[in-house]
Amino acid sequence: VKSLKEAFEKDFYIGVALNGRIIDQSDSASLSLVKREFNSITAENIMKSSIIHPQRDSFNFELADKFVALGKNNGMHVHGHTLIWHSQLSPWFATIEDSFEFKDATEKHIKDLALHFKGVVDSWDVVNEALNEDGTLRNSIFLEKMGDEYLSLAFKWTSEVDPNAKLFYNDYNMTNPDKRQGAIRMIKKIQEKGIKVDGVGMQGHWHLDYPSLEEIEESILEYSKLGVQVAITELDISVLPNPWDLEGAEISQNFENSEEMNPYTKGLPDSIQTKLANRYKDIFKIFLKHRDKISRVTFWGVNDRQSWLNGFPIRGRTNYPLLFDRELKPKPAYYGIIGLKEKL
Ligand code: G3I
Repeated sequence: VKSLKEAFEKDFYIGVALNGRIIDQSDSASLSLVKREFNSITAENIMKSSIIHPQRDSFNFELADKFVALGKNNGMHVHGHTLIWHSQLSPWFATIEDSFEFKDATEKHIKDLALHFKGVVDSWDVVNEALNEDGTLRNSIFLEKMGDEYLSLAFKWTSEVDPNAKLFYNDYNMTNPDKRQGAIRMIKKIQEKGIKVDGVGMQGHWHLDYPSLEEIEESILEYSKLGVQVAITELDISVLPNPWDLEGAEISQNFENSEEMNPYTKGLPDSIQTKLANRYKDIFKIFLKHRDKISRVTFWGVNDRQSWLNGFPIRGRTNYPLLFDRELKPKPAYYGIIGLKEKL
């Protein structure tokens, strides 16, 4: 087997998120790795509203068009991220007082983007992160101005413009039972209106010991009972301690230079490297077992150097969450998951 995409060819797309430097070709080493290993791409940032739709009447399509062309020229599946998200939201949304006007502007935002990328963006995160951890709806500007109807309208408007695109709801902690119940309720409500949802994206911002394999598997099964595809999106596995796990911890600036919170600045010990490889193997075993339900597995970044997890939730850490190291060399986790296929 020569690559990830070849290994999982018959199972699901193997995707990756691209940052601006890969898309504009200034990081050409990462770009060639992407072409070699992956067959689906997502833009990590440049299709978020604040970047692509900075003013109410103007769009910034240049980088996004490059991103899409890169995918199409290399025969890749192209995923759009994201049409409606409360975060990285273009500031002009918040300047609209009148709720009818807000609704019109939101419709236009969705439809202009869906039309511009019609036929070249194969699937969309139509709505991103609309739920609280307890399964209730997040109190965003969209909920405030439009009520919960914004959810079904977003899917309806996207499908009216591009009926062939696969439309996803995407969120993190989708393995948490309360949130999962909320997501299922929300999607059923949209479906009951006769509006289609094609897929659920489970963001895989996971850790070495949680969520449990059982929770991951059960979630895949529960979502697919809705009659939708499941995608594992934004996959990365942090090897660093999570400050939120500490009793009563606040993310204070004191953490920034603490060795406790940033223990592997000189390299990842073999024992943790092996733990990471085993963790990736275990979760890929589940993905393979349910490959009839899973359409895509997307990593959130190409290599450890550029991962957002070096800066979250504490700045300036050295994390190792992906399959390729800082020199772009495949890690044991890479060989581990490819090995699963070679044994079959
Ligand atoms: O581009 C500017 C740069 O010009 C400036 O010098 C620098 C200074 O901070 O900031 C740069 O922008 C940053 C951008 O990433 C590009 O690196 C933003 O501040 C930073 O907020 C942004 O973070 C992104 C984050 O979403 C917020 O949008 C991460 O890269 C991205 O990985 C992360 O991805 C999200 C998904 O979209 C949704 N799910 C959760 C996931 C992780 O938070």
